[in-house]
Amino acid sequence: MVAKAMDDDDEEDHDVLCEWIVDACLSYFRESTLDVPKEITFNDFYYPPTHHLKLLVSGSSLYPKATQDRGTMNAFRLMIPSGDLPPFSEVPRSKASDLRIISDTEWDDYMSEIPQKAIINDGTSRFFKPADDKKQLLREIDMHLRIRHAGLRDKIKVANLHSIVVSDDAKMTIGLLLDLIPSTGDSLYSHKNSALASEYHARWKQQATDTVKQLHSHDLVWGDVHPGNIVIDTSFNAWVVDFGGGSIVEFVPRKKAGTKDGDWQGVGKIFDEWILENNHLDRRAE
Ligand SMILES: Nc1ncnc2c1ncn2[C@@H]1O[C@H](COP(=O)(O)OP(=O)(O)OP(=O)(O)O)[C@@H](O)[C@H]1O
Ligand SMILES: [Mg+2]
Repeated sequence: MVAKAMDDDDEEDHDVLCEWIVDACLSYFRESTLDVPKEITFNDFYYPPTHHLKLLVSGSSLYPKATQDRGTMNAFRLMIPSGDLPPFSEVPRSKASDLRIISDTEWDDYMSEIPQKAIINDGTSRFFKPADDKKQLLREIDMHLRIRHAGLRDKIKVANLHSIVVSDDAKMTIGLLLDLIPSTGDSLYSHKNSALASEYHARWKQQATDTVKQLHSHDLVWGDVHPGNIVIDTSFNAWVVDFGGGSIVEFVPRKKAGTKDGDWQGVGKIFDEWILENNHLDRRAE
C-alpha cells in the first residue's frame, strides 16, 4: 500500500492508505476528543486543538517522509497576515469564532475540509472563499468595492461581498464571506449534461453578456472567464463569480487575459462552442 501510494499520480492510492490508517486510529480519536463541540466554528477549524499520533511503519523509511510532505495541515498556509493587506475599512470583519461551519455531506472529505459555507450570527448562510492567495484576494476585494462604487450592486448578478473573515485577534485574514447564491450544482460545469440546460443556453448567455457589458462600461474586467465561474441558481439564472484574476487558456487566450477583449472571447467560447460540444454528442446518440 505504501509503495503504491508513493508513485500514485491521481492520489487514489494515497487516499486508500490514509483511510486504512485513519480507521485504525478512529477509536483513539474518539476517546481523546470527547469534548468536541457539536457546532464547529471557523476558529475550531483554523486553530484546532492538536493530537499527535506517531505512525510506526516497519521496513519502510519512505512513508514518514510522505506524511511530512502531504499529510500535515498547516493552517497558517491558509491565511494572510492582516498587516500585509490594505485596511479596507469599508468592509466589515467577521470573527472566526462567530462563524459556524456548514458541512456539506456530499463533499465531506476528512483529507481536505476547508469550509465552503458559513452561518453568521443572525442565522444566514454565506459562501466562504478562503484566502489562499494574496494577489487574488486583493483583486477580489478591490473588484467588489469598485462594483459597489459604480452603483452596480443590485444591477448585475454578482454576489455581494459581505465581510472579511479574520482570526479572533484580527491578526490573520482567513477569507471572504459572500452572499450565497442558492444553487444545486457547483457551476455551469454541472449543467452541461443536463437535459434542461439547452433550453436555458440563450438566457444564460444573455445574462452573462449583460453582466460583462455593465462591468466593462465601468472599466471593470471579470478576468477568469470559464464555466466554473458561472453559477446557475435554483431559478436558472446565471451569476458571474470569481474576481481573483488569472485565466484558463482554453477559454481566454493568455495574451488577452485581464482585458475586455479576453472577457468577450471567454464568453463566446463558453456559449458558442463549449456548451454546444455536448449537444452534438447527444444528437449523435439519439
Ligand atoms: N457566492 C457564491 N455562492 C454560491 N457558490 C459560489 C459563490 N461563489 C463561488 N461559488 C462556487 O464556488 C466555486 C469556487 O469559487 P471561486 O471560483 O470564487 O473560487 P476559486 O478560487 O476559483 O476556487 P476553486 O479554485 O476551488 O475553483 C465556484 O466555481 C462556484 O461553484
Ligand atoms: Mg473560480
